[in-house]
Amino acid sequence: MNTQTPPALEARLGALFLIESALARRGGLDEALSAPRFLGLSAQDRGFARAVVMVALRRLGPIDRILDGKLKREPPAKVRQLLRLGLAQAFWLDTPAFAAVDTTVALTPQALRGLVNAVLRGALRDGQPADDPASLAPPWLLSRWRAAYGEADAMAMAACIAEEPATDLTPRNDTDEELAALLEGETLPGGTVRLRRRGDVAEWPGYSEGRWWVQDAAAALPARLAGPLAGATALDMCAAPGGKTFQLAAAGAKVTALDKSAGRLRRLAAGLTRLNLSAEMIAEDAAQWSDGRAFDVVLLDAPCSSTGAFRRHPDVLWNAKPGDLAPLAAVQARLLEAAAVRVRPGGRLIYSVCSLETEEGEGQLRRFMTSHAEFTLDPVQPGEGGAPPASLAAEGWLRVLPHHLEGGIDGFFVARLARAR
Ligand SMILES: C[S@@+](CC[C@H](N)C(=O)[O-])C[C@H]1O[C@@H](n2cnc3c(N)ncnc32)[C@H](O)[C@@H]1O
Repeated sequence: MNTQTPPALEARLGALFLIESALARRGGLDEALSAPRFLGLSAQDRGFARAVVMVALRRLGPIDRILDGKLKREPPAKVRQLLRLGLAQAFWLDTPAFAAVDTTVALTPQALRGLVNAVLRGALRDGQPADDPASLAPPWLLSRWRAAYGEADAMAMAACIAEEPATDLTPRNDTDEELAALLEGETLPGGTVRLRRRGDVAEWPGYSEGRWWVQDAAAALPARLAGPLAGATALDMCAAPGGKTFQLAAAGAKVTALDKSAGRLRRLAAGLTRLNLSAEMIAEDAAQWSDGRAFDVVLLDAPCSSTGAFRRHPDVLWNAKPGDLAPLAAVQARLLEAAAVRVRPGGRLIYSVCSLETEEGEGQLRRFMTSHAEFTLDPVQPGEGGAPPASLAAEGWLRVLPHHLEGGIDGFFVARLARAR
């Protein structure tokens, strides 16, 4: 980065780098957050850049609506990104309007400075747009959600896109009753501890002693439905970075953690060490894994579109494409077949995805059931695992929508099947 750039511009250049990466490809934001180009910024600039980009991604729909109304023709991609960041700062962060405008103009190529200045000042004159949930989600996803869940749920889900989520932790020991007080959080039904803290989690109380790990309240549900685990064998088929493996191991299961990504398994291994837990780890494609063992419990938390994870990863909404769903559903179907043969007679299969798209959840399960008479749905009971009451579908599975818990929760589908003896 140019060492002559004044500090206020360094932070905005960092934000530009993040938003360009976030919208270029799936996973781009996470990569950019650990890239030397970003890590080379001061802690203060990193914090500012990240905050601006998260707001810009959470409000991308309304921001683009404003810009589309003001731009007569599409500017170069970099200029649209700068305008998005400028409006995010001016409307939804504490940045004074003049600073948002001046720094945006300063980063704009000379020939377009007049245009950028006029667009931002015009938008500021119009005032902050009223919150309209319908503008927060990409239109194609919103139509799908309307079709799947109806107008009221679709709007309530979309409204969650603008909300900054709390941090959820899973305690290592269910009996750790002091943890919530220690971290000034609240304990949710099921045991998740919810906090409003910000900053580096590694510095929070209890982290280095391995008393908890970060895990959304919805992501903690699948493993909680596994039943008694002390002494049981469990296969976590898409295990990394490991939240569900940690739950299974902490509950006393003998866990085999399989994942095709060796890099992600290294993160799982580091988590196990910190938490003083153990599991067998195997880096392989679960659909091809040749091993004769059958397990008491098989958990398949399958790769998916991740649209349910938009609260912490709003970029997923803008990177997902309609054409992604059929290939992902095909992978999930293959993995479900591979999971089924690993369940011992009398054992349980838990299938989950952090997706709001029904072909990755309900559709997948219905298809599996038609060709696997040896499995029956084992209905989730009301209140089991601390699942929000609204998430329990009549069929007996969980369809967790982001507004089902006050303060929000990730979107998830979770079903439990029992294999005949
Ligand atoms: C939704 S994430 C799993 C999250 C994990 N269960 C947790 O709770 O931390 C999906 C994982 O599936 C892995 N994966 C994708 N395709 C796979 C395959 N064919 N075999 C094994 N793992 C796979 C990815 O590397 C990724 O880590």
